[in-house]
Amino acid sequence: MVSASAPGKLILFGEHAVVFGEPALSVAIDLRTNVQASPAERDELNGMPLAGGRYPYLEAALRKARPKGPLSLSVQSKIPQASGMGSSAAVTASLLACLQGIKGALDRESIARAAFEVEFEVQGRASPIDTTTATQGGGILLLKERGKDFLWRIEIEKSRWFLHSCRLPDMTVVVGSTGIEASTGPLVAGVKRLFQREETARRAVHRIGEISLEGRKALMDGDLYTAGELMNENHRLLNSLQVGHPLLDEFVEASLPHSYGAKLTGAGGGGSMIALTDWPDRVTEAIEARGGRAFVVSTEPRGVILEPEG
Ligand code: MEV
Repeated sequence: MVSASAPGKLILFGEHAVVFGEPALSVAIDLRTNVQASPAERDELNGMPLAGGRYPYLEAALRKARPKGPLSLSVQSKIPQASGMGSSAAVTASLLACLQGIKGALDRESIARAAFEVEFEVQGRASPIDTTTATQGGGILLLKERGKDFLWRIEIEKSRWFLHSCRLPDMTVVVGSTGIEASTGPLVAGVKRLFQREETARRAVHRIGEISLEGRKALMDGDLYTAGELMNENHRLLNSLQVGHPLLDEFVEASLPHSYGAKLTGAGGGGSMIALTDWPDRVTEAIEARGGRAFVVSTEPRGVILEPEG
């Protein structure tokens, strides 16, 4: 039996625009998914047959990694599904790590590449932000060219990303979850249609890329007021790309009196928002008073790892 786990993630700046190659910044969080794999008579998940596209990420990862024989998988996850917190990337990276772990030590770069290809296949269009964050852990910065703390370059079709690790200062982030599951593929496809049709959408995507760089600088400088304002602007621009949700706006608004800034995180359309704050209790209370589920997350430095047996 082999067991591996990988963290979820939050995108601090740049979701959606990153699919068009714009810069973005994400951070792994202390909620993990664990996958266990052992030889079996047929591919199965938690005792049920694994086929027919019901678990597209696991099925695509198995096709890609071509294990020697069928596997029995068991998945346990602390990351809420379709919540903007990277649950698909974490399960994919964990399974790929199990399959590598059967043969020996882990090679993170090849896991990140394979996990991205799986996500691209299943989602239709994707950037490597979720999959590299799940694989590497810590802060991850995507740029258009190679910079300091470079990890690897990933390209597909006409798109290219340079991935870097990014040591972020301590900060308190509250996540507010709407509980509304939204699947990423259609949201990404909607933004593409808008981008192709409207100059304002193209300008919004470009501005989000600038915000990611400015936001990273503000966080590194400890200037949380500027970082917060940039989060607010990023949120407005994501709304203009039609990936918002009224409940996300409500949670953002409820957080703002106690926060530096707040924005939706991940694909949107439901899912979650984040607030940068020194008063996590007040923000949590404000979000919960509007019917959300709120919690404080910490940065997780560990990416995908093999877990000791037993
Ligand atoms: C989803 O967590 C992030 C998006 O930018 C999609 C992607 O980058 O693949 C919305």
